[in-house]
Amino acid sequence: MPITEPAVDPGRRRLLGAGAIAMLALAVPGLGACAQDGGAGSRGNGQPVKIGVVGSGRIGGTIGGLWVKSGHPVLFSSRHPESLKRLVGELGPLARAGTVADAIAFSDVLFLATPYNALPQLSEQNAGAWKGKIVLDATNAIAQRDGAIADEAQRNGIGITTGKYLAGARVVRAFNFMGAANFAKEHHREGDRVAVPIAGDDAAALRVAEQLVRDAGFEPVVVGPLASADKFAPGGPLFRQIGSVEEMRRKMGAQ
Ligand SMILES: NC(=O)c1ccc[n+]([C@@H]2O[C@H](COP(=O)([O-])OP(=O)(O)OC[C@H]3O[C@@H](n4cnc5c(N)ncnc54)[C@H](OP(=O)(O)O)[C@@H]3O)[C@@H](O)[C@H]2O)c1
Repeated sequence: MPITEPAVDPGRRRLLGAGAIAMLALAVPGLGACAQDGGAGSRGNGQPVKIGVVGSGRIGGTIGGLWVKSGHPVLFSSRHPESLKRLVGELGPLARAGTVADAIAFSDVLFLATPYNALPQLSEQNAGAWKGKIVLDATNAIAQRDGAIADEAQRNGIGITTGKYLAGARVVRAFNFMGAANFAKEHHREGDRVAVPIAGDDAAALRVAEQLVRDAGFEPVVVGPLASADKFAPGGPLFRQIGSVEEMRRKMGAQ
């Protein structure tokens, strides 16, 4: 589906700074050499991160679109890649369409935005492909839609459950706490940016996620390890708590 908000003002585009490049080079395998020599796809002094979107619907299309506009190459995937023609056409040359396998092969970082009940199938069909991959997980588990796996996520924690299915992935929960329309409206907010809660166990993956949250036009707040991700999933106290970093931290402190 197309991004419904206007293109980001070029003046607001954020290309990654030198510190961010060094950080990403350490955290993303294979990025180091490119980061130092400018890389074929780099723009200005920044180093783009190759992002694969798995599930290019409302949230995948919106957040992936914001990353394209900040200078990252994004491969949007679908089980029917031809259906993404319009989305990638509107986003321009940094956007491509392909299969889920294409997105996994292409990416330094994956953005997961499918219904939660797609996880067992994604896991089986791409067994072994997740090992060492940074996966930013925006899914939510909804009992009416996702069935039994939602009970499992409720019981064991949603971040832990994603990590179980995507064996070996460096999972960071991110971009799931509010709706796609909110992300489309609130990115690069004037004044204090909107805080996006994230959680994960891998420190380097968390740093990459923080940078990608900033590149999308928000400010990250690390809530804690993967097990703490339920705090900002549906039913958690931080779900849909839209506000500044200060406001988010106040709400975290109040629990
Ligand atoms: N929409 C929101 O506001 C929002 C906000 C926060 C979090 N979330 C969460 O994000 C996830 C996606 O929500 P959405 O609203 O963006 O859904 P959506 O618009 O329906 O998009 C989901 C996409 O997932 C793909 N998909 C479905 N089953 C798949 C499978 N087995 N393997 C691979 N791809 C599959 C579909 O693409 P193809 O059919 O083209 O393959 C579809 O375009 C959900 O877990 C939701 O709870 C949504």
